[in-house]
Formats: sequence, C-alpha cells, structure tokens
Amino acid sequence: MPVAVPLSSYDYVPETKENLEWADLPTVDLSKIDTPEGKQQQAQVLIDAVRTKGFFYVTGYAISQARIDAQFAIGQKFYELPLEEKLKLVPDLESGDYNGYRPAGRRIIDEKTGLTDRTEVFNLPKFLPHFAAKHANYPPIIADNIVEIELFARDLHTYVLDPLFDLTSIALGLPEHYLRDLHKYENLSEDHLRYMKYSKYSEEETAALGYLWGKGHTDLGTYTLLARQPVAALQIRDHTTGQWAWVKPQNNTFTVNACDALSFLTGGYIKSTIHRVAAPPVDQRHVDRLGLLYFARPKNDLVLSTIDAPVLKGKENEFEKQGLKVPTMEEFVVAKQKWQQGRGSKRNDTILPGFHGLIFD
Ligand SMILES: [Fe+2]
Repeated sequence: MPVAVPLSSYDYVPETKENLEWADLPTVDLSKIDTPEGKQQQAQVLIDAVRTKGFFYVTGYAISQARIDAQFAIGQKFYELPLEEKLKLVPDLESGDYNGYRPAGRRIIDEKTGLTDRTEVFNLPKFLPHFAAKHANYPPIIADNIVEIELFARDLHTYVLDPLFDLTSIALGLPEHYLRDLHKYENLSEDHLRYMKYSKYSEEETAALGYLWGKGHTDLGTYTLLARQPVAALQIRDHTTGQWAWVKPQNNTFTVNACDALSFLTGGYIKSTIHRVAAPPVDQRHVDRLGLLYFARPKNDLVLSTIDAPVLKGKENEFEKQGLKVPTMEEFVVAKQKWQQGRGSKRNDTILPGFHGLIFD
C-alpha cells in the first residue's frame, strides 16, 4: 500500500545485547485461521495467553513492515516539532479528553524525588464525522499523511483486531462475530491511534527511580496493540506467578494485551494485564524511545456487563458482584481518563463506585 507522502526511512535502535529475563509469550498466527480447525487452534492459543500471561504476539496480518516504518517516521517527525506547535494540540485533559497532544511532566512518578514523567503522547481518534474537528488542525507532518494514517488505523481494525475479536469470541463459545460487531469501525467509540515518546532520564535519576520509569497499570479498553520497537522497556506481570518479565521485540509482530473492558465483559475470565516501563538496559538507556500503539474500545453505549456466554456462566465483574450500576464504555472511559490525565500523583483511588484505579511498583 503506497504512503501518501514519501517519508525518509526510520532508523530503529539496535536491539540490546543484554540477556534479560524475557517473558515467554505465545504467538497468535493470523495466517493460520483460514480453516475452522486453524481458527479453533489459534483461538485456544489466544485464550490461554490472555488467561495466563496476559500478553501475546500477533503475526500473519496483511500490513507490511514498510507501512509500520512509515508510521514511526511520522511519529518521529511529529515529536521533532517545536513544543509550541505541539501545545496547540492539547485537549482539555483535566476533563478527561485525551485526543490530541499531552506534554510530558504532568505526573509525579516518584514522591521522594518529585521527578515527573517524560512521556509525550499524541492520540488520534477514529476517522468518523463525529471527530472531524479533532482532525481539522493538524501540523503538516500529520495533515500531509492523513490519508495513509486513516487507512493504517482502519487496516489495523480489519486485519488485526477483527480476527483477534473473532478468535476471542470463538474461545468464549460466542457467535464468531459477536465481539467484532461491538467494535465496528463505524461505531462511535473511543479507539485511538497513538504516537508516543519516552524521553530518557539521567543515570542518577534512573537510580533514584529504582530503575523504573513508569509504574505498573492496566489499560482501559479491550485490546491494546503495540508495534515492535527494539528498545527493551516494557515489563509485564505474569497473572499466575506475579513475576515481572521483559517483553522481547519480535519481528513482524504486534504485542497485544487484554485490558479493563474485556475483563468486565468476561466477568474476570480474561484479566486486564498489569504492565510497566522499566529503565532500558544499559546499552539502550541513552536513547529516547518512540512507541506506536492502537487502543481498541467497544462502542460507547455498550453496558460493560458480563456477556451471556457458555464459558462465562456464573461469572460476575466488579460492579455486578457488589450490586452496583454497571457503567457504559463511555462512562468508564471518561472516569478513568479523568483519573489518569489529572495532574499530580495518585494511587488506589476510587474511579467509579466498585472500581479502583491501581498503580503497581
Ligand atoms: Fe499501558
């Protein structure tokens, strides 16, 4: 698929030579789901992965590495813009709006030292008429490539998310398109494509932070897709052992994690995955890290009750167990984003009656 405006190639940082404690993650191969047997097999790989490890790799999708490289090049050029250009794109973060640019330094990540986050985020919502105003005033690096950016986001839906939702539905004993239909691209939902930049800390700061650059948390949607980038920093906490392990960048894959909404919809059968950002290994600690992510979320008006599925009989989510009102996806997004985007530091706050925002060391 051609890129609308030619972009210089993106140079990835070399992989670490250190022998880290890598997580042993399964791979869901979408090139093997053309037959009913293949679908069943990959559905089993997926459900075992999200129930034990919480993360998996996905491969075998019809999106070329050149297109992913072009997205990294766009992200890199965006972050090279002067801060005042980027600040024109800041939404009303305190009210929970997150589509646009969020500068670094809004959160204290360590109470002892007062050090703040060095993470810049640029989120682009779905390309639907509802969000037209959000897409209207981008700087040229985004505006000139908007056709391919939209196509890339839509293709992530078609070629990666739709099959993953089908496999998840199969594993839960639901009609094959049940979850895919809750995530139709044309549905109003809070999906977004994200370019993210993590700027480095000094050696002294890193030591003071206990070699942890971002505390453990869960994501709020259903699945998060993380494009391969070679700086090792993402760590995940194994559901069964509670141990932290590094996620190894694998060629031609996205790393996928299950998130809060999928946990609610399955009455905790699928758990939301806890992950954090560690200081990269010494041979990569001097570089700023760029991330490319897609956050999938079901339609805004979906009530996040446990789905009536054969595998989920007798299961209840946090709200149902306590007899509390079950929020819609939109209500949950607004409440959790407000908590996440607000200034300062926070830990174990009540986000909605029945649900606490947890931060893990
Ligand atoms: Fe996350």
